[in-house]
Amino acid sequence: MFDVNKIRDSFPMIRNNPELIYFDSSATSLKPQCVIDTVVNYYEKETANIHRGDYDISFDVSKAYDNTRKTVAGFIGAQDPNCIVFTSGATASLNTVAINFGKKFLTEGDVILTSELEHASNILPWFKAAEESGAKIEYVPLNVDGSFNLSEYVKCFENKRIKIVALPYVSNVLGYINPVKQICRIAHENHALVCIDGAQSVPHIPTNVKEDDIDFLAFSSHKMLGPSGVGVLYAKFDLLNQMDPIFYGGGSNARFFKNGEIMLKNSPDKFEAGTPCIEGVLGLQSAIEYLETVGMEKISEHCEQLSNYFADKLNDLANVTVYNRGSKAGIVTFNLKQIFAQDAASYFNANHISVRTGNHCAKLLPNIINASETIRASFYLYNTFEEIDRFVELIKDTTIEKCVDSVL
Ligand SMILES: Cc1ncc(COP(=O)(O)O)c(C=O)c1O
Repeated sequence: MFDVNKIRDSFPMIRNNPELIYFDSSATSLKPQCVIDTVVNYYEKETANIHRGDYDISFDVSKAYDNTRKTVAGFIGAQDPNCIVFTSGATASLNTVAINFGKKFLTEGDVILTSELEHASNILPWFKAAEESGAKIEYVPLNVDGSFNLSEYVKCFENKRIKIVALPYVSNVLGYINPVKQICRIAHENHALVCIDGAQSVPHIPTNVKEDDIDFLAFSSHKMLGPSGVGVLYAKFDLLNQMDPIFYGGGSNARFFKNGEIMLKNSPDKFEAGTPCIEGVLGLQSAIEYLETVGMEKISEHCEQLSNYFADKLNDLANVTVYNRGSKAGIVTFNLKQIFAQDAASYFNANHISVRTGNHCAKLLPNIINASETIRASFYLYNTFEEIDRFVELIKDTTIEKCVDSVL
């Protein structure tokens, strides 16, 4: 059974801040006690570097680190743990793909197909790849509400040299779940590869890279209950084999010679030069165990119910515009009429409610939804309907004057 009170009890941030209503999990999630304990345990009881020491603690930590690779692979439906590369975050994972793909596979006139939904981290690296290779960036036309339009996507492949499709599984502003399985199938039929930004999907919905046939998937630990400073790049093994690392150094090479020749190790080691965020990777293991104990289906259902409940309540209010009715991934983006989003957020903050405002790093999307700044409430497994009720009561009561007073 999904017991939200039990879940809330395991989050110290909730226990220690009884008044806090945290609706900003798309930016970063709160962490359960088990994740914190794992990180502290590494510092207090088992500090050692991995893959380097000839003593028990180093062996044990190395084993736990490598075991997390297996756990992550299982969590996203990847059969081979060697397809899992640990990075510093989704941004680093996406840069690794774009920089490499640009160098190895793009030539002048090729097309990188993306969308105006993108978070900066899944578009700026592709801008650079295009600049360096002479490839062109093109955008899939979206529906008026910003949702994905599969027939427009299919049309994009007519007479185009699309080599790579870079899209989010879930938009961090609108929360719509893109039809990734069809996106991959259509791209593959047209000899293109697909890079999916999974930063907002992996924490919220069950993921299966094999079923979807995803070529590259990037996500961050800190958005899925794990520590900051750790990300994942999943890629099909033959693609990883063809790619070069961005960083070179200890741990990634088998040998090197005076003449500058480097013999790199196989994936994933060749992509993990230097000491990684060991405690973060161990913490990610605990985060995934926690998510799996609760159940990803249940988490996804809970977040969808919360966002539907909130959007329905907002819909009854004359002073509110909702931009993403039908969003399924726990994200509701809205504005209060005549009130600047950041002023509203200050008023909410004064009432212990944390939300995010602005363009949410998706700086092309305002043209599509016709709003330069929005308020984003994002929910996760520890949020409740009662918290939403309190927020709705506050929104009903929000005026320009109260917002301005809270800023002053
Ligand atoms: C859709 C999306 N992609 C990528 C990122 C970047 O993630 P990180 O900052 O953890 O690298 C974010 C972060 O908010 C995001 O929402």
